[in-house]
Amino acid sequence: MNTIVTRHAKAAQPFEARRLGPIKGRVRIPGDKSISHRSLLLGLLAIGESEIEGLLEGEDVLATARACAQLGASVERTGPGSWRISGAGLGSLLPPKDVIDFGNSGTGVRLMMGLVAGHPVEAVFDGDASLRSRPMRRVLDPLSKMGTEILVQADGGKLPIKIRGARDPIPIEYESPVPSAQVKSAVLLCGLAAPGETTVIEREATRDHTERLLSCFGADVSVAKHGVHGRRITLKGRPELKPQKLRVPGDPSSAAFPIAAALIVKNSDLVLEGLLDNPLRSGLLATLKEMGAKIEDLARREESGETVVDLRVRASTLKGVEVPAERAPSMIDEYPILAVIASFAEGDTVMRGLSELRVKESDRLAAVAAGLQANGVSHEIQGDDLIVHGKGRAPGGGEVKTHMDHRIAMSFLMMGLASEKPVAIDDASFVATSFPDFVGLMRGVGADIR
Ligand code: S3P
Repeated sequence: MNTIVTRHAKAAQPFEARRLGPIKGRVRIPGDKSISHRSLLLGLLAIGESEIEGLLEGEDVLATARACAQLGASVERTGPGSWRISGAGLGSLLPPKDVIDFGNSGTGVRLMMGLVAGHPVEAVFDGDASLRSRPMRRVLDPLSKMGTEILVQADGGKLPIKIRGARDPIPIEYESPVPSAQVKSAVLLCGLAAPGETTVIEREATRDHTERLLSCFGADVSVAKHGVHGRRITLKGRPELKPQKLRVPGDPSSAAFPIAAALIVKNSDLVLEGLLDNPLRSGLLATLKEMGAKIEDLARREESGETVVDLRVRASTLKGVEVPAERAPSMIDEYPILAVIASFAEGDTVMRGLSELRVKESDRLAAVAAGLQANGVSHEIQGDDLIVHGKGRAPGGGEVKTHMDHRIAMSFLMMGLASEKPVAIDDASFVATSFPDFVGLMRGVGADIR
């Protein structure tokens, strides 16, 4: 495939975390990654200038910003976290001259493939070795049904992928076989350009930021219950999207790491300001409260169609719990850090229904198990379930392989803050995809990471 540029690998950044004093202070967590991607994508499709405050300036979102510019938007950083994007409107994407490179970002590439699929342009999408190994059929299948042509694909639906979007996308009703907000969002973004109604049915409700932001930008989206845990989302095609001023709340998936540190390091007391509080993202907090975590809501408010909360977290004595499979979509990115926290709880934490973890930035089920093993934490995998046998402590002393996965890196650094011996990781460079100043923020509240 000679059109495809091969990316250079980054230099590995080994790090080590060790016990020091308590984790104390007040922190503001960077903007939510999911909402940041979507704010840019809808800014690209609205006519006129959208302003975004608190945009996550991680590598994943910056890749989306560059992709928006490649497709014709004017994208400008006006200050720290402040961005302006001017789109030309739905239907007006320019054909990109080069490959659109999404680096490590599954959300960026899957959502953008959906958006481009509704426009009559050809585009080539690519990413790093981790992204090239991830399944894309889950979005290519519905997008093909909507009229997109898949011109090039590697290895049964992997990147690099070249598509030709549909001139007149076909509105469809689609029930996704996997619980995935990325699949849902790709279909809805393509459906924006379709005449008539596009419907996505999900058996398990997944994060709903696309639906919320589409409504903010003026699209007609309706959401109904489907079965016990599911939803039916219907979008009227060809709306006129109006530019918006948005503020992106703090990312609860990034907050999970300092929250974990505050829970497992003795005498800690940490306040986290301005976190997104959305029921479809709050599975970890619900689980931690069941485990006995001392987490208090200090204040809450509404911002850009989402609720935002300040939290206080204190060191806690935790007990193992069972996490039901149906909770997985609301905490899908939080299992690696929950496994670390569970090591410091007393008793078994049983995490059910984790098959989707195998297709994240790494095979997270395998990577977590190997990291626990390296640090002397007893655990087992039974089918798609992970069981951590918590003993109230972790020996530590291991070196963890992070497999180009930011959340594996951050999770095991948090383990090292409370384990008996330090925990080393082979590479922290991918942390910059979602949490650029993670090490600085953690050091600022007392963590020894170097
Ligand atoms: C995301 C959806 C989730 C999640 C990812 C962000 C999104 O992926 O793991 O980090 O912003 O839509 P899936 O949709 O594959 O579950």
